[in-house]
Amino acid sequence: MLLKSSLIRAVSQTKGVITRGYKAKAKKIPEFTQDRYQVSRKSFAAVTDSDVSQFEKTIGSKYVVTDSEELLTHNVDFLKAVRGNSKVVLKPGSTEELSQIMKYCYEKNLAVCPQGGNTGLVGGSVPVFDEIVISLNRMNKIHSIDEMTGIAVADSGVILENLEKSANEHGLVVPLDLGAKASCHIGGNVSTNAGGLRVIRYGSLHGSVLGVESVLANGTVLDLMSNFKKDNTGYHLKHMFIGSEGTLGIISKLAILCPPAPRAFHVAFVGLPSFDAVLQTYLSAKRQLGEILSSCEMMDKDALAAAIQHFGLKAPIDDYPFYMLLETSGSNADHDQEKFNSFLENGMEAGHIVDGTITGDPGKMQEIWKLRELVPVALIEDGYCFKYDISLPLRQFYEIVPVMQERCGSLAHRVCGYGHLGDSNLHLNISCSEFTPEIYKRIEPYVFEYTSKLKGSVSAEHGIGFLKTKYLSYTKADNAIDMMKEVKNLMDPKGILNPYKVLPLN
Ligand code: FAD
Ligand code: MLT
Ligand code: ZN
Repeated sequence: MLLKSSLIRAVSQTKGVITRGYKAKAKKIPEFTQDRYQVSRKSFAAVTDSDVSQFEKTIGSKYVVTDSEELLTHNVDFLKAVRGNSKVVLKPGSTEELSQIMKYCYEKNLAVCPQGGNTGLVGGSVPVFDEIVISLNRMNKIHSIDEMTGIAVADSGVILENLEKSANEHGLVVPLDLGAKASCHIGGNVSTNAGGLRVIRYGSLHGSVLGVESVLANGTVLDLMSNFKKDNTGYHLKHMFIGSEGTLGIISKLAILCPPAPRAFHVAFVGLPSFDAVLQTYLSAKRQLGEILSSCEMMDKDALAAAIQHFGLKAPIDDYPFYMLLETSGSNADHDQEKFNSFLENGMEAGHIVDGTITGDPGKMQEIWKLRELVPVALIEDGYCFKYDISLPLRQFYEIVPVMQERCGSLAHRVCGYGHLGDSNLHLNISCSEFTPEIYKRIEPYVFEYTSKLKGSVSAEHGIGFLKTKYLSYTKADNAIDMMKEVKNLMDPKGILNPYKVLPLN
């Protein structure tokens, strides 16, 4: 039975934020990355007392962190999958300070790890050994938001949610939304080319980011800022920094095109009997909702069960094998709701949708979004979670989930699938009580071999970081990887920028 909400309000911001106020239960700090993954340290210099004194002179002693407790938060990632052993975190307050730090590190052959909100899921944001952590936390100024052009200019350390709030005040939205928005930085988002829940509507950051300012390995400040959508002057260098995960430069500032905030939102949460029904519903959503479709997420019953179990949520409908969360956003609430209702009615008549709820009420929409946004953290609450963000052909999108259920057997607590169906991006998640080499070997490299056979991508959105360097070749051709290495050598000849990340270690 579809429950129709009569209350439809124009809102530009609907979703809850899951890392805000979310406190992970005390989890085991992982063993050092070098031990778990058997990596050898490259011949960078080690930080000395005299280096620390120099950093204190450059940015002020308050912003040079050597306290062990604070260091730990910068050495361990969100997933508790990797752990570095950095002895110092630097918090520059300006591009100039960042540039001076890099110039010094380059001369002294000191390796660095740029860090935004440390919400990355592939071990890219923390050091592998003793690389200096460069936290962008203090570089958090929003320089301008222009209502007329929609262009926002911000420092890289601005928290996504803060940028979103400011954009909303100007009648705009940031063309990116993800569950970690209360902690992740816009610079981290650009560095990972983050995807999230709005890609189906606004496309990837390669399209929205108009310009970047980046500090290179030797301290040079590269100004690639632009206030225009169109600029065809030669090589588009800004793209090198979008998704290169801090291995080619440190983004200090950026310009991003923000679309007008939609005036009406609606969210539906529906139950479906099979994955085939999920696909049919997606196809109908594209055809019938067209330009107002702004999210098309799916999850299976085990994914939803994790969110319900760990966060005490209540599902708005009965149990089904699959669920979809669809969102529309447009300019005419009545018109949008009419379209949405008729799409849902058609889906029910066809037998693809069995049950569902639709609302335009901000509070209710937020409750529904929680069911989706809390899934990733709920699975971490199981103990330890192997997370994958693979691109797969839609027709074979879900097949890997039962395959992995069978492969992992009782070693896994939950093997489930959810993700951005509209972007062909599956999040296969395998949770267990703790990381063991036994289950790790059961999962990898199998997941990537499977993905590669279907010509999918080993990373649709989280990036390669440290955890997937071995698997880059499952998606990228050898000569493409060689060219990536050449680019890296050109831009960072000493290899001091986020070493052991993105490119294969050998
Ligand atoms: P960090 O984690 O600090 O760093 C990520 C990488 O970028 C590292 O390699 C780091 O060295 C580099 N980096 C950071 N800042 C800079 C900079 N200024 N210059 C150069 N390099 C830099 N990701 C998605 O794509 N889609 C999602 O839907 C999504 N949902 C998530 C939900 C949850 C609950 C969590 C915990 C994570 C989620 N993520 C998602 C992953 C993560 O939030 C994104 O990768 C995000 O873009 C990382 O931003 P950050 O500021 O935390 O960067
Ligand atoms: C998501 O879509 O929820 C994120 O990418 C995080 C995850 O994959 O767990
Ligand atoms: Zn995702």
